[in-house]
Amino acid sequence: MKTIIEPFRIKSVEPIRLTSRPERERLIAEAGYNLFGLHSDDVLIDLLTDSGTGAMSSQQWAAVMRGDESYAGSPSFARFEAAVKNLMPFRHVIPTHQGRAAEAILFAIFGGAGKCIPSNTHFDTTRGNIEASGARGDDLVIAEGKDPQRLHPFKGNMDLEKLEAYLEKHRDAVPVVMLTITNNAGGGQPVSLANIRAVAGLAHRFGKPFVIDGCRFAENAWFIKTREEGQAGRSIPEIVRDCFSVADGMTMSAKKDAFGNIGGWLALNDDALAEEARGHLIRTEGFPTYGGLAGRDLEALAQGLSEIVEEDYLRYRIRTNEYIVERLVAMGVPVVRPAGGHAVFIDARAWLAHIPPLEYPGQALAVALYEIAGVRSCEIGTVMFGRAPDGSEHPAAMDLVRLAFPRRTYTQSHADYLLEAFEDLAARKDALRGYRIVKEPKLMRHFTCRFEKL
Ligand code: F0G
Repeated sequence: MKTIIEPFRIKSVEPIRLTSRPERERLIAEAGYNLFGLHSDDVLIDLLTDSGTGAMSSQQWAAVMRGDESYAGSPSFARFEAAVKNLMPFRHVIPTHQGRAAEAILFAIFGGAGKCIPSNTHFDTTRGNIEASGARGDDLVIAEGKDPQRLHPFKGNMDLEKLEAYLEKHRDAVPVVMLTITNNAGGGQPVSLANIRAVAGLAHRFGKPFVIDGCRFAENAWFIKTREEGQAGRSIPEIVRDCFSVADGMTMSAKKDAFGNIGGWLALNDDALAEEARGHLIRTEGFPTYGGLAGRDLEALAQGLSEIVEEDYLRYRIRTNEYIVERLVAMGVPVVRPAGGHAVFIDARAWLAHIPPLEYPGQALAVALYEIAGVRSCEIGTVMFGRAPDGSEHPAAMDLVRLAFPRRTYTQSHADYLLEAFEDLAARKDALRGYRIVKEPKLMRHFTCRFEKL
Protein backbone atom coordinates (compact mmCIF):
# COMPACT_ATOMS: atom_id res chain seq x y z
CA MET A 1 0.00 0.00 0.00
CA LYS A 2 1.25 3.48 -0.86
CA THR A 3 -0.81 5.40 1.70
CA ILE A 4 0.99 5.88 4.99
CA ILE A 5 -1.81 5.97 7.55
CA GLU A 6 -1.81 7.31 11.08
CA PRO A 7 -0.75 4.10 12.89
CA PHE A 8 -3.35 4.46 15.65
CA ARG A 9 -7.07 4.75 16.15
CA ILE A 10 -8.71 7.31 18.37
CA LYS A 11 -10.20 6.36 21.74
CA SER A 12 -10.71 9.76 23.27
CA VAL A 13 -11.30 13.03 21.41
CA GLU A 14 -11.06 16.72 22.18
CA PRO A 15 -13.58 18.78 20.22
CA ILE A 16 -12.24 21.70 18.20
CA ARG A 17 -14.43 24.80 18.42
CA LEU A 18 -14.99 26.12 14.91
CA THR A 19 -14.70 29.90 14.63
CA SER A 20 -15.58 32.29 11.82
CA ARG A 21 -13.16 34.55 10.08
CA PRO A 22 -14.68 37.81 11.46
CA GLU A 23 -14.50 36.30 14.95
CA ARG A 24 -10.82 35.42 14.47
CA GLU A 25 -10.04 38.89 13.12
CA ARG A 26 -11.53 40.38 16.27
CA LEU A 27 -9.75 37.93 18.60
CA ILE A 28 -6.30 38.43 17.12
CA ALA A 29 -6.74 42.23 17.13
CA GLU A 30 -7.69 42.04 20.83
CA ALA A 31 -4.52 39.99 21.43
CA GLY A 32 -2.45 42.81 19.92
CA TYR A 33 -1.75 40.57 16.89
CA ASN A 34 0.40 38.33 19.09
CA LEU A 35 -0.50 34.65 18.66
CA PHE A 36 0.80 33.83 22.15
CA GLY A 37 -2.01 36.06 23.45
CA LEU A 38 -4.81 33.88 22.03
CA HIS A 39 -6.88 31.49 24.10
CA SER A 40 -6.17 28.03 22.74
CA ASP A 41 -9.89 27.22 22.43
CA ASP A 42 -10.05 29.99 19.83
CA VAL A 43 -7.49 28.07 17.74
CA LEU A 44 -8.57 25.37 15.25
CA ILE A 45 -5.22 23.73 14.58
CA ASP A 46 -2.50 24.61 17.04
CA LEU A 47 0.96 24.33 15.50
CA LEU A 48 2.63 26.69 17.95
CA THR A 49 4.84 23.92 19.29
CA ASP A 50 5.35 20.15 19.36
CA SER A 51 6.40 20.43 23.00
CA GLY A 52 4.16 18.76 25.57
CA THR A 53 1.23 18.95 23.16
CA GLY A 54 1.20 15.35 21.91
CA ALA A 55 -1.41 12.68 22.63
CA MET A 56 -0.59 10.00 25.17
CA SER A 57 -1.43 6.40 24.32
CA SER A 58 -3.88 4.15 26.17
CA GLN A 59 -0.84 2.31 27.55
CA GLN A 60 0.59 5.58 28.87
CA TRP A 61 -2.70 6.47 30.57
CA ALA A 62 -2.78 2.99 32.08
CA ALA A 63 0.78 3.50 33.35
CA VAL A 64 -0.27 6.81 34.93
CA MET A 65 -2.58 4.86 37.27
CA ARG A 66 0.39 2.76 38.39
CA GLY A 67 2.38 5.84 39.40
CA ASP A 68 3.85 5.51 42.88
CA GLU A 69 4.08 8.88 44.57
CA SER A 70 6.60 7.98 47.28
CA TYR A 71 9.01 10.80 48.05
CA ALA A 72 12.03 8.49 47.93
CA GLY A 73 12.75 5.23 46.14
CA SER A 74 9.59 5.04 44.04
CA PRO A 75 9.37 2.01 41.72
CA SER A 76 8.08 4.46 39.10
CA PHE A 77 11.51 6.05 39.11
CA ALA A 78 13.13 2.63 38.68
CA ARG A 79 10.97 1.96 35.60
CA PHE A 80 11.72 5.42 34.20
CA GLU A 81 15.45 5.05 34.81
CA ALA A 82 15.52 1.61 33.17
CA ALA A 83 13.63 2.92 30.10
CA VAL A 84 16.10 5.79 29.68
CA LYS A 85 19.16 3.56 30.20
CA ASN A 86 17.81 1.03 27.71
CA LEU A 87 18.22 3.68 24.97
CA MET A 88 20.83 6.00 26.44
CA PRO A 89 23.42 4.03 28.36
CA PHE A 90 24.47 6.70 30.88
CA ARG A 91 25.42 5.85 34.46
CA HIS A 92 23.32 8.57 36.10
CA VAL A 93 19.80 9.67 35.12
CA ILE A 94 18.50 12.74 36.92
CA PRO A 95 14.80 13.59 36.36
CA THR A 96 13.76 17.24 35.92
CA HIS A 97 10.41 18.91 35.26
CA GLN A 98 11.43 19.82 31.70
CA GLY A 99 14.44 20.32 29.45
CA ARG A 100 15.42 23.79 30.55
CA ALA A 101 15.71 22.67 34.18
CA ALA A 102 18.29 20.08 33.08
CA GLU A 103 20.10 22.85 31.18
CA ALA A 104 20.04 25.14 34.22
CA ILE A 105 21.71 22.42 36.32
CA LEU A 106 24.25 21.60 33.59
CA PHE A 107 25.34 25.23 33.22
CA ALA A 108 25.33 25.84 36.96
CA ILE A 109 28.17 23.28 36.80
CA PHE A 110 29.84 24.08 33.46
CA GLY A 111 28.95 27.76 32.91
CA GLY A 112 30.49 30.92 34.30
CA ALA A 113 32.08 34.17 33.15
CA GLY A 114 34.62 33.78 30.37
CA LYS A 115 33.51 30.27 29.33
CA CYS A 116 32.68 29.48 25.66
CA ILE A 117 30.27 26.68 24.74
CA PRO A 118 29.97 25.48 21.13
CA SER A 119 27.05 23.58 19.58
CA ASN A 120 25.56 23.12 16.11
CA THR A 121 22.83 25.53 17.24
CA HIS A 122 21.89 26.15 20.86
CA PHE A 123 18.14 26.20 21.43
CA ASP A 124 17.04 29.53 22.96
CA THR A 125 16.57 28.20 26.52
CA THR A 126 19.99 26.52 26.30
CA ARG A 127 21.55 29.79 25.19
CA GLY A 128 19.57 31.60 27.90
CA ASN A 129 20.98 29.31 30.59
CA ILE A 130 24.52 29.61 29.21
CA GLU A 131 24.33 33.40 29.08
CA ALA A 132 22.68 33.68 32.50
CA SER A 133 25.76 31.95 33.93
CA GLY A 134 28.00 34.59 32.31
CA ALA A 135 29.27 32.21 29.59
CA ARG A 136 28.96 32.56 25.82
CA GLY A 137 27.25 30.15 23.41
CA ASP A 138 28.41 29.76 19.80
CA ASP A 139 26.61 28.07 16.89
CA LEU A 140 28.85 26.14 14.47
CA VAL A 141 26.34 24.41 12.19
CA ILE A 142 27.48 23.63 8.60
CA ALA A 143 26.86 26.37 6.00
CA GLU A 144 24.09 24.31 4.32
CA GLY A 145 22.19 24.44 7.62
CA LYS A 146 21.77 28.20 7.30
CA ASP A 147 20.45 28.19 3.73
CA PRO A 148 16.70 27.37 3.62
CA GLN A 149 16.68 26.20 0.00
CA ARG A 150 19.88 24.16 -0.06
CA LEU A 151 19.37 20.40 0.00
CA HIS A 152 21.57 18.28 2.27
CA PRO A 153 20.60 15.07 4.13
CA PHE A 154 22.03 16.24 7.46
CA LYS A 155 21.67 20.00 7.62
CA GLY A 156 22.00 19.88 11.41
CA ASN A 157 25.62 18.66 11.27
CA MET A 158 28.33 20.49 13.18
CA ASP A 159 30.99 22.13 11.00
CA LEU A 160 33.94 20.00 12.13
CA GLU A 161 36.64 22.34 10.80
CA LYS A 162 35.08 25.26 12.62
CA LEU A 163 34.76 23.21 15.80
CA GLU A 164 38.41 22.18 15.67
CA ALA A 165 39.56 25.77 15.10
CA TYR A 166 37.24 26.88 17.94
CA LEU A 167 38.70 24.32 20.33
CA GLU A 168 42.26 25.35 19.35
CA LYS A 169 41.44 29.01 19.90
CA HIS A 170 39.42 28.83 23.11
CA ARG A 171 41.02 25.67 24.50
CA ASP A 172 40.89 26.40 28.24
CA ALA A 173 37.68 28.43 28.08
CA VAL A 174 35.59 25.52 26.72
CA PRO A 175 34.06 23.45 29.55
CA VAL A 176 31.82 21.24 27.36
CA VAL A 177 30.91 20.60 23.71
CA MET A 178 27.17 20.40 22.96
CA LEU A 179 25.16 19.09 19.99
CA THR A 180 21.38 19.41 19.45
CA ILE A 181 19.57 16.51 17.74
CA THR A 182 17.60 17.32 15.71
CA ASN A 183 18.68 20.91 15.21
CA ASN A 184 15.41 22.63 16.15
CA ALA A 185 16.50 26.23 15.61
CA GLY A 186 17.85 25.29 12.17
CA GLY A 187 14.58 23.77 10.96
CA GLY A 188 14.39 20.41 12.78
CA GLN A 189 17.27 19.16 10.64
CA PRO A 190 19.09 15.96 11.61
CA VAL A 191 22.70 15.24 12.56
CA SER A 192 24.35 12.14 11.05
CA LEU A 193 25.80 9.37 13.19
CA ALA A 194 29.17 10.01 11.53
CA ASN A 195 28.98 13.67 12.58
CA ILE A 196 27.95 12.76 16.16
CA ARG A 197 30.96 10.42 16.37
CA ALA A 198 33.31 13.00 14.87
CA VAL A 199 32.15 15.73 17.29
CA ALA A 200 32.65 13.31 20.20
CA GLY A 201 36.11 12.45 18.85
CA LEU A 202 37.13 16.12 18.63
CA ALA A 203 35.75 16.97 22.06
CA HIS A 204 37.60 14.04 23.60
CA ARG A 205 40.84 14.82 21.76
CA PHE A 206 40.76 18.21 23.48
CA GLY A 207 39.82 16.61 26.81
CA LYS A 208 36.27 18.08 26.85
CA PRO A 209 33.08 16.30 27.85
CA PHE A 210 30.51 15.93 25.08
CA VAL A 211 26.82 16.48 25.93
CA ILE A 212 23.89 15.91 23.55
CA ASP A 213 20.63 17.90 23.72
CA GLY A 214 18.53 14.86 22.77
CA CYS A 215 14.99 16.35 22.59
CA ARG A 216 14.13 14.78 19.21
CA PHE A 217 16.48 11.79 19.31
CA ALA A 218 14.02 9.31 17.75
CA GLU A 219 13.25 11.54 14.76
CA ASN A 220 17.01 12.03 14.35
CA ALA A 221 17.56 8.25 14.45
CA TRP A 222 14.89 7.75 11.76
CA PHE A 223 16.76 10.17 9.49
CA ILE A 224 20.01 8.28 10.18
CA LYS A 225 18.31 4.99 9.32
CA THR A 226 16.78 6.28 6.09
CA ARG A 227 19.52 8.63 4.87
CA GLU A 228 22.90 7.47 6.15
CA GLU A 229 24.92 4.86 4.33
CA GLY A 230 25.03 1.48 6.04
CA GLN A 231 22.28 2.28 8.58
CA ALA A 232 19.15 1.07 6.77
CA GLY A 233 19.21 -2.45 8.20
CA ARG A 234 19.55 -1.43 11.83
CA SER A 235 16.83 -0.98 14.43
CA ILE A 236 16.01 2.48 15.82
CA PRO A 237 16.98 1.54 19.41
CA GLU A 238 20.35 0.29 18.13
CA ILE A 239 21.00 3.57 16.31
CA VAL A 240 19.88 5.60 19.33
CA ARG A 241 22.27 3.66 21.60
CA ASP A 242 25.11 4.31 19.15
CA CYS A 243 24.40 8.05 19.16
CA PHE A 244 24.48 8.34 22.94
CA SER A 245 27.23 5.81 23.68
CA VAL A 246 29.86 8.29 22.44
CA ALA A 247 28.55 11.10 24.69
CA ASP A 248 29.37 11.90 28.31
CA GLY A 249 25.92 13.21 29.07
CA MET A 250 22.64 14.51 27.72
CA THR A 251 19.91 17.01 28.43
CA MET A 252 16.38 16.07 27.47
CA SER A 253 12.97 17.61 27.14
CA ALA A 254 10.66 14.62 27.52
CA LYS A 255 7.87 16.85 26.13
CA LYS A 256 9.19 15.93 22.68
CA ASP A 257 10.50 12.44 21.92
CA ALA A 258 9.30 10.74 25.08
CA PHE A 259 5.60 11.41 24.41
CA GLY A 260 5.25 13.35 27.66
CA ASN A 261 3.08 16.35 28.43
CA ILE A 262 5.77 17.32 30.93
CA GLY A 263 9.19 16.03 31.92
CA GLY A 264 12.89 16.01 31.22
CA TRP A 265 16.19 14.69 32.47
CA LEU A 266 19.89 15.25 32.74
CA ALA A 267 22.10 12.20 32.27
CA LEU A 268 25.81 11.98 33.04
CA ASN A 269 28.52 9.35 33.22
CA ASP A 270 30.89 11.09 35.59
CA ASP A 271 30.17 10.22 39.24
CA ALA A 272 31.48 13.46 40.72
CA LEU A 273 29.58 15.64 38.24
CA ALA A 274 26.41 13.64 38.88
CA GLU A 275 26.77 14.18 42.61
CA GLU A 276 27.13 17.90 42.06
CA ALA A 277 24.13 17.87 39.71
CA ARG A 278 22.00 16.05 42.29
CA GLY A 279 22.93 18.74 44.81
CA HIS A 280 21.48 21.37 42.46
CA LEU A 281 18.50 19.10 41.76
CA ILE A 282 17.57 18.76 45.43
CA ARG A 283 17.79 22.52 45.87
CA THR A 284 15.74 23.46 42.79
CA GLU A 285 13.65 20.49 41.56
CA GLY A 286 13.29 17.71 44.11
CA PHE A 287 14.69 14.48 45.49
CA PRO A 288 16.72 12.46 42.92
CA THR A 289 14.06 9.75 42.50
CA TYR A 290 11.42 12.18 41.26
CA GLY A 291 13.20 15.46 40.37
CA GLY A 292 10.53 17.85 39.22
CA LEU A 293 7.96 15.18 38.41
CA ALA A 294 5.18 13.11 39.90
CA GLY A 295 5.53 9.31 39.93
CA ARG A 296 2.72 9.09 37.36
CA ASP A 297 4.68 11.36 34.98
CA LEU A 298 7.72 9.07 35.28
CA GLU A 299 5.52 6.09 34.38
CA ALA A 300 4.07 7.85 31.33
CA LEU A 301 7.58 8.69 30.13
CA ALA A 302 8.88 5.16 30.64
CA GLN A 303 6.04 3.83 28.46
CA GLY A 304 6.43 6.72 25.98
CA LEU A 305 10.08 5.87 25.43
CA SER A 306 9.13 2.39 24.26
CA GLU A 307 6.56 3.80 21.81
CA ILE A 308 8.61 6.66 20.32
CA VAL A 309 11.15 4.28 18.72
CA GLU A 310 8.50 2.29 16.81
CA GLU A 311 9.20 2.44 13.09
CA ASP A 312 5.56 2.65 11.99
CA TYR A 313 5.14 5.71 14.15
CA LEU A 314 8.35 7.39 12.93
CA ARG A 315 7.57 6.66 9.28
CA TYR A 316 4.16 8.32 9.65
CA ARG A 317 5.59 11.16 11.72
CA ILE A 318 8.28 12.17 9.23
CA ARG A 319 6.04 11.54 6.22
CA THR A 320 3.48 14.07 7.54
CA ASN A 321 5.99 16.89 7.18
CA GLU A 322 7.26 15.65 3.83
CA TYR A 323 3.69 15.52 2.50
CA ILE A 324 3.07 19.15 3.48
CA VAL A 325 6.46 20.34 2.22
CA GLU A 326 6.01 18.61 -1.16
CA ARG A 327 2.68 20.32 -1.70
CA LEU A 328 3.88 23.72 -0.53
CA VAL A 329 6.85 23.49 -2.90
CA ALA A 330 4.46 22.60 -5.74
CA MET A 331 2.44 25.73 -4.87
CA GLY A 332 5.61 27.85 -5.05
CA VAL A 333 5.76 28.55 -1.31
CA PRO A 334 9.41 28.85 -0.20
CA VAL A 335 10.07 26.43 2.66
CA VAL A 336 13.10 25.09 4.49
CA ARG A 337 14.11 21.95 2.61
CA PRO A 338 14.28 19.07 3.04
CA ALA A 339 11.37 18.73 5.49
CA GLY A 340 12.48 18.67 9.13
CA GLY A 341 11.46 16.14 11.75
CA HIS A 342 8.91 18.00 13.85
CA ALA A 343 7.97 21.08 11.88
CA VAL A 344 7.58 22.76 8.53
CA PHE A 345 9.32 26.14 8.26
CA ILE A 346 8.06 28.76 5.78
CA ASP A 347 10.57 31.32 4.50
CA ALA A 348 8.36 34.38 5.03
CA ARG A 349 11.08 36.84 4.02
CA ALA A 350 11.27 35.25 0.57
CA TRP A 351 7.50 34.73 0.15
CA LEU A 352 6.42 38.17 1.38
CA ALA A 353 9.35 39.98 -0.23
CA HIS A 354 7.36 43.23 -0.32
CA ILE A 355 7.43 43.42 3.51
CA PRO A 356 10.85 44.51 4.82
CA PRO A 357 12.32 42.50 7.75
CA LEU A 358 11.78 45.35 10.21
CA GLU A 359 8.07 45.23 9.38
CA TYR A 360 8.05 41.53 10.33
CA PRO A 361 7.03 39.43 7.32
CA GLY A 362 6.90 36.30 9.53
CA GLN A 363 4.41 37.95 11.86
CA ALA A 364 2.32 39.10 8.88
CA LEU A 365 2.19 35.53 7.58
CA ALA A 366 1.44 33.99 10.98
CA VAL A 367 -1.42 36.44 11.67
CA ALA A 368 -2.89 35.95 8.18
CA LEU A 369 -2.80 32.18 8.61
CA TYR A 370 -4.77 32.52 11.83
CA GLU A 371 -7.27 34.97 10.35
CA ILE A 372 -7.88 32.86 7.25
CA ALA A 373 -7.88 29.38 8.77
CA GLY A 374 -7.58 29.53 12.57
CA VAL A 375 -4.14 27.88 12.41
CA ARG A 376 -1.66 29.03 15.06
CA SER A 377 2.01 29.06 14.04
CA CYS A 378 5.08 30.78 15.41
CA GLU A 379 7.26 33.54 13.98
CA ILE A 380 10.95 32.67 14.23
CA GLY A 381 12.63 35.76 12.89
CA THR A 382 13.04 39.45 13.52
CA VAL A 383 10.31 39.63 16.17
CA MET A 384 12.01 36.84 18.12
CA PHE A 385 15.67 37.76 17.56
CA GLY A 386 15.68 41.37 16.25
CA ARG A 387 16.21 43.30 19.49
CA ALA A 388 19.89 43.42 20.54
CA PRO A 389 20.91 43.64 24.23
CA ASP A 390 22.02 47.27 23.61
CA GLY A 391 18.46 48.15 22.57
CA SER A 392 19.11 48.48 18.83
CA GLU A 393 16.97 46.58 16.32
CA HIS A 394 18.25 44.58 13.34
CA PRO A 395 16.81 42.04 10.90
CA ALA A 396 17.33 38.47 12.14
CA ALA A 397 19.32 36.03 9.95
CA MET A 398 16.04 34.65 8.55
CA ASP A 399 12.33 35.41 8.87
CA LEU A 400 10.71 32.01 9.23
CA VAL A 401 7.30 30.81 10.35
CA ARG A 402 7.28 27.44 12.10
CA LEU A 403 4.40 25.01 11.84
CA ALA A 404 5.28 22.50 14.57
CA PHE A 405 3.24 19.31 14.71
CA PRO A 406 2.12 17.91 18.04
CA ARG A 407 2.71 14.14 18.12
CA ARG A 408 -0.20 11.81 17.22
CA THR A 409 -2.66 14.71 17.57
CA TYR A 410 -3.82 15.79 14.11
CA THR A 411 -4.76 13.74 11.04
CA GLN A 412 -4.22 14.04 7.32
CA SER A 413 -7.41 16.04 6.83
CA HIS A 414 -5.95 18.67 9.15
CA ALA A 415 -2.88 18.73 6.90
CA ASP A 416 -5.09 19.11 3.81
CA TYR A 417 -7.02 21.92 5.49
CA LEU A 418 -3.71 23.66 6.23
CA LEU A 419 -2.67 23.31 2.58
CA GLU A 420 -5.99 24.79 1.46
CA ALA A 421 -5.29 27.76 3.72
CA PHE A 422 -1.96 28.25 1.94
CA GLU A 423 -3.71 28.22 -1.46
CA ASP A 424 -5.95 30.99 -0.19
CA LEU A 425 -2.95 32.86 1.22
CA ALA A 426 -1.01 32.53 -2.04
CA ALA A 427 -3.82 34.38 -3.84
CA ARG A 428 -3.86 37.31 -1.43
CA LYS A 429 -0.34 37.45 -0.01
CA ASP A 430 0.72 40.50 -2.03
CA ALA A 431 -1.93 42.55 -0.26
CA LEU A 432 -0.63 41.62 3.23
CA ARG A 433 0.92 44.48 5.19
CA GLY A 434 3.64 44.47 7.79
CA TYR A 435 3.42 45.32 11.48
CA ARG A 436 4.77 47.81 13.99
CA ILE A 437 5.49 46.89 17.62
CA VAL A 438 3.68 49.28 19.95
CA LYS A 439 4.60 47.73 23.31
CA GLU A 440 7.39 45.34 24.22
CA PRO A 441 9.13 44.03 27.36
CA LYS A 442 12.91 44.23 27.82
CA LEU A 443 13.60 40.53 27.25
CA MET A 444 12.08 37.80 25.04
CA ARG A 445 9.67 40.28 23.51
CA HIS A 446 7.99 37.81 21.15
CA PHE A 447 5.96 36.23 23.98
CA THR A 448 4.17 39.39 25.11
CA CYS A 449 4.74 42.31 22.71
CA ARG A 450 1.76 43.99 21.01
CA PHE A 451 1.57 44.99 17.36
CA GLU A 452 -0.36 47.35 15.10
CA LYS A 453 -1.10 46.59 11.47
CA LEU A 454 0.68 49.05 9.14
N1 F0G B 1 16.26 21.98 23.55
C1 F0G B 1 15.55 21.98 22.41
C2 F0G B 1 16.22 21.57 21.13
C3 F0G B 1 14.20 22.36 22.42
O1 F0G B 1 13.51 22.35 21.28
C4 F0G B 1 13.60 22.74 23.65
C5 F0G B 1 12.20 23.17 23.70
C6 F0G B 1 14.38 22.71 24.82
C7 F0G B 1 15.71 22.32 24.73
C8 F0G B 1 13.81 23.09 26.16
O2 F0G B 1 12.98 22.10 26.63
O3 F0G B 1 10.75 23.25 26.77
O4 F0G B 1 11.20 21.12 28.02
O5 F0G B 1 12.25 23.23 28.74
N2 F0G B 1 11.55 23.51 22.68
C9 F0G B 1 10.15 23.89 22.59
C10 F0G B 1 9.82 24.33 21.19
C11 F0G B 1 9.71 24.86 23.63
O6 F0G B 1 8.70 24.83 20.97
O7 F0G B 1 10.63 24.13 20.29
P1 F0G B 1 11.72 22.45 27.58
